[in-house]
Amino acid sequence: MREYKIVVLGSGGVGKSCLTVQFVQGIYVETYDPTIEDSYRKQIEIDDKVIDLEILDTAGVQQFTAMRELYIKSGKGFLLVYSVDDPNSLKELERIREQVLRIKDNSNMPIVLVGNKSDLVETRKLTPQDGIEKAANWNCSFYETSALNKSNVDNVFVNVVEQIIRR
Ligand code: GTP
Ligand code: MG
Repeated sequence: MREYKIVVLGSGGVGKSCLTVQFVQGIYVETYDPTIEDSYRKQIEIDDKVIDLEILDTAGVQQFTAMRELYIKSGKGFLLVYSVDDPNSLKELERIREQVLRIKDNSNMPIVLVGNKSDLVETRKLTPQDGIEKAANWNCSFYETSALNKSNVDNVFVNVVEQIIRR
């Protein structure tokens, strides 16, 4: 059986844990509890193959991010998550992406850029186009997601696994 480690990265509060828990357990957690480190397992089937995923839900809040380097080392694919109501969270991903490329010493890693909280209409500050342009720059996949509405949640995880398998 194939086993892949997926690492979920991004600033504090952008929805990394909500996306992961929605994908793994099918539930939405409304209350915010900053992550230190959580690991999840889920089996999925792609191209008739059973794949064992280990999903590492990392800390976004600054005082917990010291372990990031170790997580990145062990990862095969990366979800870079920002929130569409927080331009700084997209900016922060530039540093995180550079860290990934540096640590993996590979400019062609399986990465998905994820603009979460797409359900927010009133407080949205970034458009889908902002994400599309960034992803074109970075030559990676892009989805807007909502952990709340379960919109595109499965797609981001499936896409990163497909990138790992088909590269
Ligand atoms: P850290 O663990 O501190 O890095 O944060 P995180 O990125 O894991 O954020 P988390 O998933 O805990 O989400 C923070 C809060 O944002 C949640 O408690 C929700 O209230 C809210 N949230 C997460 N996803 C969504 C979403 O898709 N839509 C909306 N409207 N709110 C969301
Ligand atoms: Mg979290």
